[in-house]
Amino acid sequence: MTFRARHLLGIEHLAPDEIYTLLDLADRYAEMERGSDKHGDALQGLTQVNMFFEASTRTQASFEIAGKRLGADVMNMAMAASSVKKGETLIDTALTLNAMHPDLLVVRHPHSGAVNLLAEKVNCAVLNAGDGRHEHPTQALLDALTIRRAKGRLHRLNIAICGDIAHSRVARSNILLLGKLENRIRLIGPPTLIPSGAADWGVEVYGDMEEGLMGCDVVMMLRLQKERMDGGFIPSEREYYHRFGLDAEKLAHAKPDAIVMHPGPMNRGVEIDGTLADDINRSVIQEQVEMGVAVRMAAMDLLAQNLRVARAPQGVMV
Ligand code: NCD
Repeated sequence: MTFRARHLLGIEHLAPDEIYTLLDLADRYAEMERGSDKHGDALQGLTQVNMFFEASTRTQASFEIAGKRLGADVMNMAMAASSVKKGETLIDTALTLNAMHPDLLVVRHPHSGAVNLLAEKVNCAVLNAGDGRHEHPTQALLDALTIRRAKGRLHRLNIAICGDIAHSRVARSNILLLGKLENRIRLIGPPTLIPSGAADWGVEVYGDMEEGLMGCDVVMMLRLQKERMDGGFIPSEREYYHRFGLDAEKLAHAKPDAIVMHPGPMNRGVEIDGTLADDINRSVIQEQVEMGVAVRMAAMDLLAQNLRVARAPQGVMV
């Protein structure tokens, strides 16, 4: 097994062999989940705490299901009702939780870098479930697993990431992961939603969907992250859909077997046509959700193994 990390804070510091180790294990969990016995014992005796300081449906639910299927005691902190509302800082909240001896801490936070900071203060494994516009590693890993299962490989693919790149941690983690595995990445969107440094990321940038989608194997759409925008990034949603919304006509410029992805939540009729999103011949959006549970099981399993080794008295084999 090759997975050396103590925390899963981002894709940035993962090596390709660690990514493949995690995806291979996730593949096995995906098969297990489709079978009649969905339960394993990799997290037996461990306590997993989910701290979500930002809204989440898929990510929080799948971390919870993943933990429970592997035997962990899972607690969801209701952050809206916690002392954070009374002014407690992130670090104080983390230290309080740390004193209760959790083993796995799953954190989503609106500020980029907050999860890294927290990981320095606690002595358990920390998993980043999305921090600001920085990283969302388990999303990139579940996207990678979905692509590998659909395309049979995870290298030398043409992959378009479209829409609101500037505010997207999903885009950032995907660019890092897919770039490490030698894929050709194209970013497509209006100049206002493409970060200024993007040209230095080893990607190609397009301002036109039809041109950018030409010959693509994978088309990844992103939500317009209005909660992170503070002004006029797009003229109107109608105009945006006309130029950058994915529909069957625009998709026809990609390869005939190109797959359509979206991390959710979707704005139907803004970045993607609803009928296309539901087209099971092209869209793998539901498969992404399914792989989300498997990837989170694999991530927590591997981190728990490293945690057990780190905590074992020296010289004792575990
Ligand atoms: C993404 C997120 O929260 O970063 N959603 C998710 O985790 N599935 C993308 C988004 O909010 O648009």
